[in-house]
Amino acid sequence: MNTVGVFDSGVGGLSVLAALRAELPHENFVYFADTAYAPYGERGDAYVIERTRAVVDHLLREHGIKALVVACNTATTAAIHLLRAEHPALPIVGLEPGLKPAVAASRTGHVSVMATRGTLASAKYANLRASFAGSADVRSVPCDGLVKAIEGFDTAGIAELCERYMKEAGPFGDGPDDVDTVVLGCTHYPLVKDQLGRHAPATLRFIDTGVPVAQQTRRLLTSAGRLADSGDGSLLLQGSGDVAWLEAAASRWLGLSTTTAD
Ligand code: DGL
Repeated sequence: MNTVGVFDSGVGGLSVLAALRAELPHENFVYFADTAYAPYGERGDAYVIERTRAVVDHLLREHGIKALVVACNTATTAAIHLLRAEHPALPIVGLEPGLKPAVAASRTGHVSVMATRGTLASAKYANLRASFAGSADVRSVPCDGLVKAIEGFDTAGIAELCERYMKEAGPFGDGPDDVDTVVLGCTHYPLVKDQLGRHAPATLRFIDTGVPVAQQTRRLLTSAGRLADSGDGSLLLQGSGDVAWLEAAASRWLGLSTTTAD
């Protein structure tokens, strides 16, 4: 029991994994990409709950994980309350759109949240807005198709969708009616931040939650007495789809070099 499990519907959670490995260099990680069943974001709660349970059961059974990071906003909003109830002894960290830091950082008071349709329709997101939007104008932008394009390395599709959704998220700038902060509320989107940034001034702020999630994981491991404080740390990539492809994705998106397993 010396491995931290991290999972996402696909490659998006690799953006969180990078922050986890930087924050916790001594930990062993197993990353599971549920690519055969992705994307989750446009499919509804029952589907996401079923897949989340299947992946977590696998991580517990095969790896005896000592903590779990649900590196997927969509799975967190649909299933984290169930996971916590079903595995009370397992430290579990989830992700939700970084609305609170975005509202705090915005000077114009106009913030856009880009996320999957599932995340934006969830009760958890409604609560997040009620708790943290305050007087800010918060626009929700469901980015249908973008996860699929990223999963497929579809360069033309990524370019077209980034342009379309940034148009919906704007107009950007520093004027009183402009959006100056965009929340990347899906872990896939930081992987295409450069493409998104092409359609905005350089002053636009993007908020993602990889680093705070890594810090929270450290806190939970520490309080559970499970933090590794020596060793080189290892990374195993697994998935329900093609693992060679996953390895290519890890090296393409993040320059990660890894051990893979079926
Ligand atoms: N990466 C995921 C998220 O953070 C989900 C994507 C999907 O499968 O639609 O929401």
